[in-house]
Parts: sequence; structure tokens; C-alpha cells
Amino acid sequence: MLNPFPEGWYFVARRKAIERSGLLQRTWLGNQVVAWCNETGDVCVAEAVCPHLGADLSPDAGGRVRNGCLVCPFHGFVYDATGQCVATPYAPTPKSARLRVFETCDIAGMIFAWHGIGDRPPQWQIPAPPPSGHDWSELEIRSVRFAGHPQETTENSVDLGHLRYVHGYDSVGRVGPLVFEGACLKGSFDFKRTRAIAGLEIFRYDVSAVTSIHGLGYSIVEIREHSIGIDSRLWVLATPVDGTDIEMTLVSQVRLLRSPKRPIAGMRFLPVKLRTRILNKILVSAQRQDVMQDVVIWRRKTFRPRPLLCRSDGEIMKFRRYCEQFYPGGQPLLADERIEFRKSVDTKDPEQADQVRTRAG
Ligand code: FES
Ligand SMILES: [Fe+2]
Repeated sequence: MLNPFPEGWYFVARRKAIERSGLLQRTWLGNQVVAWCNETGDVCVAEAVCPHLGADLSPDAGGRVRNGCLVCPFHGFVYDATGQCVATPYAPTPKSARLRVFETCDIAGMIFAWHGIGDRPPQWQIPAPPPSGHDWSELEIRSVRFAGHPQETTENSVDLGHLRYVHGYDSVGRVGPLVFEGACLKGSFDFKRTRAIAGLEIFRYDVSAVTSIHGLGYSIVEIREHSIGIDSRLWVLATPVDGTDIEMTLVSQVRLLRSPKRPIAGMRFLPVKLRTRILNKILVSAQRQDVMQDVVIWRRKTFRPRPLLCRSDGEIMKFRRYCEQFYPGGQPLLADERIEFRKSVDTKDPEQADQVRTRAG
């Protein structure tokens, strides 16, 4: 089994959702966490355990935010947005009382927190997304939870073969090689797709996509549809929940569609903003449908450390080499699995056993 929590930045929630809830609780990479904002907009994501006597700080257990600080329901210790205890109701503040906090970053109003190997600090940052401004729609968000792993789901973006068989894309082609530098992996591909209703070809899309992956929890795909002239962005955020399930969040944004190159059925006379908003909802729902097709495979598949690839499978092994940096010692498999894997290689393929032993550690 793959180590369920590779290092990286993982989505927690939208800033709006944190602000709206006051104090938000989540199961996030096997931790119970709480998130809140203070009055100046600093966000804190912390383990929901009070360092005093271990009370649960989540809102369900009575945790509350007062004046931008988190108040423990058990003895009323008060924590600021850096996690530091700043007051108690009945005694001098113990200086060493600090929450376990996770480093955060805000990308287009989406809050991510860092999970480091052995709790080490961030090793890289997610770059700011391309500017949006007034020319782009609001974000549309959908999420799906299922048994899976962020490496397996991210691998789909380099596995061009499945696009045809699972999703029915035509003429899928890689444009240039996959390029990786540090924690960033970039790839471009083109495809065509026909939407048919009752056997009649209704739409034919002609798409170029550029995927930028920054760790296994964050990918952004910049998509240009040529026949209508739609520019959109899709964020794919895979967040391990509890060691079995992941939550996949899809976030879509579309550039205002002022003058489509060809009419879109039913949308011709709509005002530009409304047309774009509807289009964004349609796109994110279509992406969700695609993900649901993938989920059928992901939930049941076995991770094969040495897959039997064919020539047109593309650069799956290059992707896997990129992934090694996110695991302790570069080892994606948990220790027990490595022993099992070595045993199976020793019996089945003695000639390559030495080589694999070296790779599997
Ligand atoms: S356990 Fe939180 S204040 Fe005592
Ligand atoms: Fe897919």
C-alpha cells in the first residue's frame, strides 16, 4: 500500500467557508483539525487538541472563537491565530502552551495547509495562479469523497491512454514532453471530444490543456477550447482524509464569454455574465462526471510498483520518479509492503531482484 500521506500542500477549505462557519472542523490527513480567521484575516489551521489537558477544540465539542482567538471549552485557555496561548481565565498564561499549527497559504481564496515529512517546514510553495480580475467568473466548486490515494488520482493526468477508454475522448495527443523541476510537473496535451445525445452528435469540442502539478494535493489545468473560444481553469485538489478516503475538490473558473465563435444552444441571448456563470456550472459538473467515471477504477485498483507498460502509455514512470520526493526516504510504499514486494520479485523474477532491492530500499 502507498503511504497515505505524501508531503505537500493540501486543501482545507475556502476562506469564505471558514469565515462563514466561525470555527470549522475537518479530518485532514489523519488529523482532527480546526480552522478559523482572526479580525485581520490571518487563518489558523491547528490540531483540535488543547495542549493543557487534551480537550477537543472542535465546535462540536464546544470550541468557540472569540475576538479572533480560539477558546477551549474545558478550562477556557485562549489561543491566538499563531496558536500561542495568550490568556487563561484563572492563572498567568503558560508561555509554553501552544497549539500544533499547520503552515497555511491562500491561493485565490482557497486555504491550503502544509503536511511535512516528520513535521518539517514547507520545502516549496505553490505559485500564485494566473491573474483573474473582472474578466473571469467566480469559482464553482464540487467535491467527491471516495477510497483512493492522491498519487493514483494525479497519475491520471499523465495517463493519456485512459482518456479515450474511460472518458471517450478522441485524438488525444501529448504536446511536448512532461517536464519536472523540483516539486512542479508540467505537461500539455490536446484532445477532441464529441457530446452526443440519442446518438446525434451535438457538440464537438477541440481542446488544448496545460497541466501544472505542485505536489499530489494541487493541480491546475489551463484549458482552451478552440471551436467556441472558451478559456477555463480547473483546479484538482486531492486531500487525504483518514488514511483510506480522499476528498477530491474540483474548482472551475471561466473567462467571460463575450463573443462565442459559434452559438451555444440555449445561451445565445443571455447576458455575458449569466452565460459565463451557467457555462462554468456545466463545465464543473462535466468534470465531476468524469471523476465519477475514474472513481469506479480508483476505488478498486491495486497500486503496482512495477506496472507492465506498453509503448504508448506515455510517461507514467517519469511521473512516479517525480512523486518519490514526497515520501520519507523517497519510498512511496509502506515498509511492510516493501518487504512483500521484494519477496514477490525474488520468487518471480530473480534476475531483476537485485535491481529492485536497491530501488525498494
Ligand atoms: S484542556 Fe483546554 S483549557 Fe484545559
Ligand atoms: Fe480521468
